Amino acid sequence: MKKKSIPVKRSQVGMTQLVLPNDTNQLGNLLGGQLMHWIDLAAAIASSRHSKRVCVTASVDELNFIHPIKQGEVVILLASVNRVFRTSMEVGVRVLSENLLTGKVQHANSAYLTFVSIDESGTPVESPRLEPENKDEQRRYDDALRRREDRLRRRSRNTTN
Ligand SMILES: CC(C)(COP(=O)(O)OP(=O)(O)OC[C@H]1O[C@@H](n2cnc3c(N)ncnc32)[C@H](O)[C@@H]1OP(=O)(O)O)[C@@H](O)C(=O)NCCC(=O)NCCS
Repeated sequence: MKKKSIPVKRSQVGMTQLVLPNDTNQLGNLLGGQLMHWIDLAAAIASSRHSKRVCVTASVDELNFIHPIKQGEVVILLASVNRVFRTSMEVGVRVLSENLLTGKVQHANSAYLTFVSIDESGTPVESPRLEPENKDEQRRYDDALRRREDRLRRRSRNTTN
């Protein structure tokens, strides 16, 4: 029996974090590892919300840090499931930084992660299909297939070397 489709908006995540001293390096800039942790969490929530299962990170595509985020700024993470394959799904996370004093909002980072839904024994299980409902969601859905092919090619190159 085919599983029903679930709209993208049903699993989207908006997460907001204030950058505190413990999250920063000696220059008061947000640590890359802390941002990666928040990206992973936002994506894990979106994938789990979609599949109604525990989801684990299978891979993270290239991450580029576009500009430093300072202590006292706010980080906004917007996570959205782009496409469900069988047991795996691509989640896109857009990261914005907001300066509360000036109101300036900047694009700081974008990441694509692959999550796999698993059962109690850690075996991958099929996820419900995803229903893109507008042009942006459809574009991300279409592009996700090309990115999956690239990453699976890279993975097989890395595991056969
Ligand atoms: C992710 C994991 C569940 C995959 O299990 P597996 O036995 O390799 O299962 P499969 O080979 O059947 O792959 C399952 C799905 O994951 C996808 N996948 C597996 N590794 C992948 C990778 N590195 N990148 C992208 N997709 C990947 C497969 O393409 C497949 O997708 P599909 O079902 O949608 O077609 C398993 O490798 C695992 O548990 N890894 C550790 C996860 C973890 O602990 N993450 C936290 C970081 S430490």
